[in-house]
Amino acid sequence: VPVQDTVKLTIDGREITAPKGTPVIEAARRAGIPIPHYCYHPYLSVAGNCRMCLVEIEKFPKLQIACSTQVAEGMVVRTATPQALAARAGVMEFLLINHPLDCPICDQAGECRLQEYSVAHGRAYSRLDDDKHRGRKNVDLGAHIVFDEERCIKCTRCVRFCDEVTKTGELALFNRGDDAIIGVFPGRSLDNPYSGNTVDVCPVGALTLKEFRFQSRVWFLEQKESVCAGCARGCNVTLWVRDERIVRITPRENPEVNKTWICDEGRLSYQPLHAGERLLEPRVEGAAARWDDALVEAARLLTGGGGRRPRLGVVASSRMTLEELSLLRRLCERAGAEAGLAALERGQDDDVLIRRDKTCNLAGARLLGFERPAAEVLGAAAEGKLDVLYVLEEELFGPAVPVAEADLARRAAARVPALIVSASFSSRVPAQARVALPAAAYGEFEGTCVNFEGRAQRLRAAVERPGRARTHLGILSALARAAGWGEWPADPAAAWEQAQAFAAPLAGIAYSQIGAAGVMLAGGGGGRS
Ligand code: SF4
Ligand code: SF4
Ligand code: FES
Repeated sequence: VPVQDTVKLTIDGREITAPKGTPVIEAARRAGIPIPHYCYHPYLSVAGNCRMCLVEIEKFPKLQIACSTQVAEGMVVRTATPQALAARAGVMEFLLINHPLDCPICDQAGECRLQEYSVAHGRAYSRLDDDKHRGRKNVDLGAHIVFDEERCIKCTRCVRFCDEVTKTGELALFNRGDDAIIGVFPGRSLDNPYSGNTVDVCPVGALTLKEFRFQSRVWFLEQKESVCAGCARGCNVTLWVRDERIVRITPRENPEVNKTWICDEGRLSYQPLHAGERLLEPRVEGAAARWDDALVEAARLLTGGGGRRPRLGVVASSRMTLEELSLLRRLCERAGAEAGLAALERGQDDDVLIRRDKTCNLAGARLLGFERPAAEVLGAAAEGKLDVLYVLEEELFGPAVPVAEADLARRAAARVPALIVSASFSSRVPAQARVALPAAAYGEFEGTCVNFEGRAQRLRAAVERPGRARTHLGILSALARAAGWGEWPADPAAAWEQAQAFAAPLAGIAYSQIGAAGVMLAGGGGGRS
């Protein structure tokens, strides 16, 4: 930001520089000074209705709300004076007048602004003698959202989200005074593809997600920063884990990628991980086998076992990480394989986040030279022109994403003399597979993907792999050893150097450099929209 477009102000004695036009609350937030608030949200318009953010500003006769007051040169702000604290205590008392004593059964407990601010800014007693205003509970607003009327503090964040982000406008504030209530317009329901974000923006437990309701107290969950692998956007997310299961996915702020939003499909993308039957051990000819035996058999097929070099085809997945694909490229070069990439597309790109490319690393796969369509390799197998086919894109044989080449894949599997499959789910291993190698699924491995805009971001492991499943990196390096090709890296940091050797835009970026916000590759990394 050019210097003339910034101002200097003081907040709680700290000198801060902020761009002109920034709300005081946002300047404070960026400086690590939290000002309590309910209705303000950095990616929604300012409503200024909760009054929780009242602060003292020198030369102003009365307290001001920090969310709708913009920074100015020389401004002096104090966030915790006796007057500000008294005003906040008053706001808390007002908000709690009609709030039910629901905390023991409320999903928001543990991450509720009312609870947090009650401790920091509230009174320890109530002066209310009258009955509380009662509202309806368990109001079904849409496919994923349940509303508890009496918990709502009318901050209108949910309304503004539907008006301003999805522009679908399902919600509104109806009636006035004590009877004011959030609701959907008659005949409508809250079913836009991003509806789960209304739960995230709701500062209290009024909006809850059906799929997570009553599943767990949040303090029993471990959090892991990761990236959604549901489409080419690569939204930044937090994975919430209990007992080695991902039980919730929420957005993680990245202004350059997803702000603080994710789509419902990405939010619920952990469900199929628990729904399908996992492939838990290697199989040879359909029977459970030891890893060593499966690897020896797969390596014999890939190399020809000392005899004639087989005609080999490989179908790679653009859901594999850069590190994994770099080893696969090495395998293809070493074994003389033709490699193809399946396109997993559904629907259309929208104006918010969703991309029709349902893979997380197509741009990365292209960087590493995986350009040819899978149809060419599968077609060759279906016509009897290949001896061995190694498929790492398990959706080719699975029901989750409609794959254009699925029919061709079935014909290829039926015709090719030897089929090797690396897969996470047993339902995606065709009966003809000579060797099936159990692979880690989302949330069970670490590695780097490049989104459609060319941003390299890191997927993280959050849970243990089930059974004897291995990461693709582990499988590929073990295959290389079994084939007599030497020691290949099985660790993502070491494999990153392998990827750098293949793709110039990755050069100069240390593995550890790809932090929480990712790294934009030079020239967009060759990504495509
Ligand atoms: S439902 Fe939640 S987000 Fe919507 S107005 Fe009420 S408190 Fe605010
Ligand atoms: S838009 Fe794509 S990356 Fe973002 S949450 Fe949805 S599926 Fe995941
Ligand atoms: S956050 Fe400022 S009035 Fe609500």
